[in-house]
Amino acid sequence: MQLRLDSTHTTKAAGDWLIVGVPEAFELTGELGELDAVLGGQLARLNEQQDLTGKLGQAVTLPTPLGIAAKRLLLVGLGPQQKLGDASLNRALTTAIRQVSTRKVDQVAVAIPTVGPAEFTAARRIQVAAAAVQVGCVGQDLYRKERKRFPIAEVTLLVANAAEADLQTALHTGQILGEAVNLTRELVNLPPADMYPETFADRAAALAEEFGLKIDILGKPELEAEKMGSLLAVSSGSERPPRLVCLEYNQAPVGAPVLAIVGKGVTFDSGGLSLKPTDGMLTMKCDMAGAATALAAVVAIARLKLPVHVIGLMGLVENMTGGLAMKLGDVLTARSGVTIEVQNTDAEGRLVLADVLDYALSRGAEKIVDLATLTGACVVALGEEVVGAMSNNQPWCDAVLSAAKATGEDMWQLPMFDLYNGMIESDVADIRNVGGGRWGGAITAAKFLERFVKDKPWVHLDIAGPAFAGSDKPHREGGGTGVMVRTLVELVQRAGGGRQI
Ligand code: BES
Ligand code: MN
Ligand code: ZN
Repeated sequence: MQLRLDSTHTTKAAGDWLIVGVPEAFELTGELGELDAVLGGQLARLNEQQDLTGKLGQAVTLPTPLGIAAKRLLLVGLGPQQKLGDASLNRALTTAIRQVSTRKVDQVAVAIPTVGPAEFTAARRIQVAAAAVQVGCVGQDLYRKERKRFPIAEVTLLVANAAEADLQTALHTGQILGEAVNLTRELVNLPPADMYPETFADRAAALAEEFGLKIDILGKPELEAEKMGSLLAVSSGSERPPRLVCLEYNQAPVGAPVLAIVGKGVTFDSGGLSLKPTDGMLTMKCDMAGAATALAAVVAIARLKLPVHVIGLMGLVENMTGGLAMKLGDVLTARSGVTIEVQNTDAEGRLVLADVLDYALSRGAEKIVDLATLTGACVVALGEEVVGAMSNNQPWCDAVLSAAKATGEDMWQLPMFDLYNGMIESDVADIRNVGGGRWGGAITAAKFLERFVKDKPWVHLDIAGPAFAGSDKPHREGGGTGVMVRTLVELVQRAGGGRQI
C-alpha cells in the first residue's frame, strides 16, 4: 500500500472512497459543517433521522454523494470527543477500512479528525491512522481463491500542514507498526502444516537479512549442547525438530541495558499425551503468537532505528504425542539445573519458556518481557480481550502497563503473592509444571516462570485470550490479532526517548 499525507480539502479529495470521522453529539461547524454544506444538508438530515449518531464504529455510507470530489463517502463514528485517542481512532478506522476493502479499490482518502483532546496530537493521530489502514485491509483469507478482503493501492491521509517533518515521521512509524501487526497476524494465521519451528526460523532469518538484524538459530544439537532439557522434552513427541531463534539489534549508547523480548512459539499445541479435546485444540495453531509478536516487534524496532539494545528470543516447538513424547511423572532438568516434574503435558508453554528465559539471562538480558498464549485460566480471569500482566518488579511492570495504556491495548495486572509458590511444589523434583487444581492457573504459571529469571526485572504477558479472535467483529478480522506489537514498540520508544528501559 502506498500511504501519503496531503492537505487537500476534504470535499476536494478525489478517490474511490472518502472516509470521515464523526464524533458523538457532533455539531455541523468547521470541517463537518463545510462537508454538510456541499452535500446539501445531508449530514443534518441523517442526524435528525438518528441514522448518523457518531457512536464509536457506526458506519454510514453515501454511495453517490453529490458535491464532493470522491466517488463514495463513508462516515464513521468516533465516539465521545473527549475520549478520542489511540483506541477509539484505531477502532473507527479499522472498521471503515474493513468495509471499503471488501472490494477492489485503488484510492481512498481518510480525513484525520481534528476534534478531541489536544494531547492527542496530529502526529499521533497520523501514526494511529497509518497503522489502522494497513491492518484493516488485510484478512485471514490466506488460502481462499475468492478473497474476502483486497489491498488498497493508495491511501491518502488528509491533514493540515502535510509537509511537516514530524507528521511525515509519524506516517512512517505508523506504516511500520501496521506492517508489524500484519506480520504477526500472518504468522499466527498460517496453518501448522506450513508454520512449524523450521519455517518460522526461516522466516525470521529472511527478515533478519532484510532489516540488518543479527540472528542465531539453534537447532536440536545446539539445544542439547545447551542442556535445554525442558524445551527439548516438549518437542520430543514431534517429528519436527525444535528451533530457538535469537535476534539482536543494538543501536544503543554504550552501557545501555539489554532488553529481552521472549516469545512462546508452540507452533501447534495438541496438549501432548494430556491430549486436548477437539474444541480446545481447534485454534492451537495460535500457540506461537508470543513468538510471532516478539519477532514482529524486534523487526519494527530495527526498522524504526530506535536507540536501544534489544534481543528477541523465540522458543519454537510442536507439542505432539509421538512415541518419544514426554510422559506424566517424567522429571526434566532445565538448563538452569532446576528439576521439573511433569504432571500435565499440556502445560508445555512454561517448559519451553523456562529454558528460553534462562538462555536470555546468559545472553545478557537485564530487563525481560515475555509473551505467551500460556493459560486458559487467564482468559477465564480477564476475558478474551485483555492481556494479563504478571511481574517480579513493580516499576518495570508499571512501564509496560503505561505503554499498553498509551496504545489503547487493554492489560491488567494479576498478583504474584508468595503464597502461590507452594502450589508448584513437587514431592520428587524442585517444582512441578502445574499448580495443583484449577484455581489461580494464570498466576501459578507465572510463578513457575519466575523461577527462571533470577532477580532480573521481568514482566510476563499472558496473551492467551487476545492473541487470537474466534470470529470477525466489525473492527477486526477473526484469527491472529497482532496484540502487543504496538505496546512493545511504545515501551521501547519511550526508553529510547531518554527514559532508560
Ligand atoms: N496453549 C495453551 C493455553 C491456551 C488456551 C492458549 C486457550 C490459547 C487459548 C496452554 O499450553 C495450555 O494448554 N494450558 C493449560 C494449562 C493447564 C494444563 C495447567 C490450560 O490452560 O488449560
Ligand atoms: Mn498446552
Ligand atoms: Zn500451549
